[in-house]
Amino acid sequence: MLTCIETKNLTFHYLEGTKMQKTAINNVSVKFNSYDIIAIIGHTGSGKSSFIQHLNGLLKPSLGKVFVEGQDIWQNKSATKNARTKVGVVFQHPEYQLFEDTIYKDIAFGPKNMGISGEEIDRRVRDAAKFVDLNESLLNKSPFDVSGGEKRKAVIAGVIAMDPNVLVLDELTAGLDPASRDLIFSRIIKYHKKRKNTIIFTSHNMEEVANFSDKVLVFNKGEVAMFGSTLEVFEAHEELCRMGLSVPEVTDIFLALKRMDHKNLPNCVLTIKQAVKILCQQNP
Ligand SMILES: Nc1ncnc2c1ncn2[C@@H]1O[C@H](COP(=O)(O)OP(=O)(O)OP(=O)(O)O)[C@@H](O)[C@H]1O
Ligand SMILES: [Mg+2]
Repeated sequence: MLTCIETKNLTFHYLEGTKMQKTAINNVSVKFNSYDIIAIIGHTGSGKSSFIQHLNGLLKPSLGKVFVEGQDIWQNKSATKNARTKVGVVFQHPEYQLFEDTIYKDIAFGPKNMGISGEEIDRRVRDAAKFVDLNESLLNKSPFDVSGGEKRKAVIAGVIAMDPNVLVLDELTAGLDPASRDLIFSRIIKYHKKRKNTIIFTSHNMEEVANFSDKVLVFNKGEVAMFGSTLEVFEAHEELCRMGLSVPEVTDIFLALKRMDHKNLPNCVLTIKQAVKILCQQNP
């Protein structure tokens, strides 16, 4: 297994050295394998976004190290630059990522910085806009004249246009209607299968996590509480509950059935598809 990202004893304090100092990440050591889809969950304020902002060098660790494809990203300027092209991040608040006077220029910004030019830029911008279902007529508009959902789509398009090895999505679907959410998620999964990239996403939606991830990293108060396969993590539902987290509704229903003496059901059912299969087998 190739490791695409590794953190060693990563610790981060906001407002370091002041009376207001706040530890957001505490001694986090994790390894992500290439080609995996990893979900990061945790209650609000548990450190998910702060952690993510270290993966492409937007935040610098107070202590510890971050490696991208084996390279310490703070070793020198070129290592930091390299991390920014290898790891593409869609941040939680899209408005901080839009600053050009048109959406077209915003989507083109990342690939341009990577040294891409001319027709290739134009192709990437239009393909990425199509990918997120952003209407072509919006490309010449200011990012400040479009809706929140369209802003989010523009930011996702800008990162997709860079075609990074690691795609990081912080609360990707927040602010999107269910149809756009399903469309973008299914396109990202299709792209992942074709491109063989690594996907890291944070979400408060456990259905999304159960349906799309291979592994789940659980943050609690800035520390790693669990890291394992999606099944392993949701099997530990009592522990998740103690941290104020939930499991998918279908998992809850099967746990309730099991408590009602349906002993032959599996311990942990994660998706509707799985549930239907099990129920059909029980009542052919
Ligand atoms: N710019 C900042 N200055 C000071 N403290 C901050 C800043 N940003 C975040 N924090 C604090 O760091 C901790 C971790 O915040 P973070 O945003 O990483 O959590 P999160 O898990 O992403 O939460 P959410 O689910 O709400 O997005 C919180 O206690 C938060 O208040
Ligand atoms: Mg966050």
